[in-house]
Amino acid sequence: MPPDIPPVEERVEDGTPGCEGGGAAAVAPGPPLLLRPTFPIRTARLLLRPLTAADTDELLEYRSLPEVCRYVPFLPMDRAAVARRLADAWARTEITGEGQGLILGVQLAETGRLVGDVNLFLHSQEHRSAEVGWVLSPHHSGHGYATEAAHAILHLAFDDLKVHRVIARVDARNLASVRLAQRLGMRREALLLENEWFKGGWSDEIDFALLESEWLTQHREPAATP
Ligand SMILES: CC(C)(COP(=O)(O)OP(=O)(O)OC[C@H]1O[C@@H](n2cnc3c(N)ncnc32)[C@H](O)[C@@H]1OP(=O)(O)O)[C@@H](O)C(=O)NCCC(=O)NCCS
Repeated sequence: MPPDIPPVEERVEDGTPGCEGGGAAAVAPGPPLLLRPTFPIRTARLLLRPLTAADTDELLEYRSLPEVCRYVPFLPMDRAAVARRLADAWARTEITGEGQGLILGVQLAETGRLVGDVNLFLHSQEHRSAEVGWVLSPHHSGHGYATEAAHAILHLAFDDLKVHRVIARVDARNLASVRLAQRLGMRREALLLENEWFKGGWSDEIDFALLESEWLTQHREPAATP
């Protein structure tokens, strides 16, 4: 559940193998993973771009709300918490190595209003794997903005960063987020029962994933009709 970059960044993997990992495995083929987007990234209705101090009030409008934080790792934020992150993890504008993440503000192109943020975290260069997350202001839900922004993040992950696999981890109770992952074409891979002690109770996690091959299939141009 990674919709907040700092907690995710704090989980930087140390590369320690599990039962089936590590060993003498070679790094997966492909160029070194690097992402230096040109901002803003434009979609049909949105602009995606790094967050700045000028966004503080609009960030607080949704990141301070308990309902927004219910299923995500961060607590409701105050001005000081937002300022700390803007000065630190949220200031990143590129990904140059594993353990780094990018958080981008989601702005309505028509009005300039900041309505949420999305993020991309590079887990492993060796396995070419990344994770995505999303947070939307409840004042702007129900219009497909989070889906549109997250889809743009998947474009960054597969088309620009060139990862092999992207995951999204969702609290099983977070049905809006489950639907969003499904709308993105992500495949439900696992249900992890009570895998985390989360905000005072055990929580179940649903893992979604998308492979580069699946992404390419989804985005293949339809064959021209004769
Ligand atoms: C998860 C979250 C981003 C989903 O927000 P959302 O508003 O449902 O998502 P979207 O902006 O993509 O809107 C999709 C909804 O709008 C509807 N919609 C309307 N117009 C649409 C369009 N043009 N395109 C897509 N969906 C559209 C969809 O049908 C969908 O509604 P439904 O889920 O009831 O079927 C939001 O609930 C949130 O930020 N929660 C708090 C943070 C959080 O939990 N993050 C996830 C951590 S894993």
